[in-house]
Amino acid sequence: MDLKIQSFEEYQSKYKQSVEKPEEFWGDIAESFFWRKKWDKVLDYNFQEPNINWFVGGKLNITENALDRHLPERGNKLALIWEPNDPKERFIRWTYRELYEKVNQFANALKAQGIGKGDRVAIYMPMIPELTVAVLACARIGAVHSVVFAGFSAHALADRINDAQCKMVITADGLNRGAKQIPLKRVVNEAAEHCDCIEKIIVYDRLGWAPQMKEGRDVWWHDAIEGMSKECEAEVMDSEDMLFILYTSGSTGKPKGVVHTCGGYMVYTSYSFQNVFQVGESDVYWCTADVGWITGHSYIVYGPLISGATTMMFEGVPTYPDAGRFWQVCDKHGVNQFYTAPTAIRSLMSFGEDHVLSYSLDSLKVLGSVGEPINEEAWRWYHIHVGKERCPVVDTWWQTETGGIMISGLGAHSPQKPAHAGYPLPGIQPVLLNQEGEEIQENEVEGYLAVKYPWPSMLRTTYGDHERCRVTYFSHYDGYYFTGDGAKRDENGMYRIIGRVDDVINVSGHRFGTAEIENAINMNDHVVESAVVGYPHPVKGQGIYAYVICETLPETEEQEDILRAEIVETVVEEIGKIAKPEKIQFVPGLPKTRSGKIMRRILRKVAEGEPDKLGDTSTLLDPTVVETIVATAL
Ligand code: PRX
Repeated sequence: MDLKIQSFEEYQSKYKQSVEKPEEFWGDIAESFFWRKKWDKVLDYNFQEPNINWFVGGKLNITENALDRHLPERGNKLALIWEPNDPKERFIRWTYRELYEKVNQFANALKAQGIGKGDRVAIYMPMIPELTVAVLACARIGAVHSVVFAGFSAHALADRINDAQCKMVITADGLNRGAKQIPLKRVVNEAAEHCDCIEKIIVYDRLGWAPQMKEGRDVWWHDAIEGMSKECEAEVMDSEDMLFILYTSGSTGKPKGVVHTCGGYMVYTSYSFQNVFQVGESDVYWCTADVGWITGHSYIVYGPLISGATTMMFEGVPTYPDAGRFWQVCDKHGVNQFYTAPTAIRSLMSFGEDHVLSYSLDSLKVLGSVGEPINEEAWRWYHIHVGKERCPVVDTWWQTETGGIMISGLGAHSPQKPAHAGYPLPGIQPVLLNQEGEEIQENEVEGYLAVKYPWPSMLRTTYGDHERCRVTYFSHYDGYYFTGDGAKRDENGMYRIIGRVDDVINVSGHRFGTAEIENAINMNDHVVESAVVGYPHPVKGQGIYAYVICETLPETEEQEDILRAEIVETVVEEIGKIAKPEKIQFVPGLPKTRSGKIMRRILRKVAEGEPDKLGDTSTLLDPTVVETIVATAL
């Protein structure tokens, strides 16, 4: 059960073994999980179709690994701590036995509402413990969960529900986020008008509101669980049965449903969790992400619980009621491992050190970072003021598609270098490719980051469109999984992630495709065409800069402001507040080549404030457009 590597030397030897004999390596690790039936073959794959199968023929239920098998020795150990948005509200602590009972009870409720193996269930919930219960209850009965971050709009939610043909939505009346309250059920009602597939909606009563409930379709959570047994036989799943779908953005317009399966995801999330965070038996581990993203799936819910750890969930935001909230929570619950995003660190840095210096933070042992490159200044602030220079910072590089952490330090057992994710985890074989798609062997180089051998938690397909999965990830470079990131490797072989090399913008650690935002902007009646690029933003990492052509160019500043507000509103309706463009520049035309392709390189340079570095513009259809764009840049 304890899969932790204890030193850098051990890491090096394990890494070597994992590359030389990968099947033996993963087979040994998989032995420490509970399988209803052992696998016949560890791995069967090709990257061409792609067709990837781990622990072939194995049978299991991931919740028996996350719950049942802990009961004999850890039944009374805390599985989950929940800290509410409002520090004055009482927190919740559930033991493994309590969580087990709640999951089983809700699993029975799902069955009673007509959900069975293979059915898709959308989960659109606040960061409350019932979200974890809902996720695990789906897994218990073999239903496929599709968690949608509760900041997405009704349109975005409806698209995701329809794409996966979800039969059910699990939601709440509303949620708390800082000083705000957001009416979730109202959003779900609006989405449901466009989704014929929805048969049932279960609603958790978080705020005591009285949302509109539709007779025959909508059921309160408390009514659904009433009288349900706290024992529910786990559905026996094949290793390669679908566990969940999670939508993420890519270079093209429509978000895609990344599919993860049961066996490999279980093995890898637990193995990586134990090794990266080095969590001890009595430790309290806290990841501040939302379960709506992959980080929450793998490192709030599955990884920690499968490993028998105590995981904390936080309903609130870093700055409410003040910028000391994270540190107050660390002291309050004696947090030992703390995992957050660079954007949160940069935002807290801007409030000064006083907030963090008012707390002891004595319990902290390991600090983690995820979601985007962490700049050196933020790394040092985190290391010095939060970690008091005694806690290693693990900078964890991975993606929705990778399912688990790929490149990272392992607690205190790896060399530290600011802004460097470091070395690959055992079993992970990253490579840097040049323009021609050839592997660059030496160090002190830069290239496209790809992976040349499968790992257990990698995506298997994109829901309903396998060809899209092949084209997006496996067709750029034959025989490799392509990440979409660029990276450097230093003289010691440590990796530093530079950022996306495709049309994906990373705003506060959230991924958006430029085309996705452009489509949303173009929905506004005044807009003829738009082009979106990312630009460096001091807190968000990247901000969204939109160039917009309107039917009639606004003449006054006032008109411009009104139009901007309308366009922002359209984006909020189409996607959600998280995708708001930071800057909107009205332009008479866009820099296009003769074949009609927008030259984003030019727009990026203007947005970055470097109009003197535009490069060659002679191939443009109308080079004078660029002069106007530069002259009116924001
Ligand atoms: O560009 C990389 C960046 O986030 C992308 C993946 O986004 P998403 O699927 O939303 O998952 C985020 C959480 C795992 C990557 O392609 N990214 C993630 N972690 C890091 C990072 N960039 C640099 N350093 C990281 N530690």
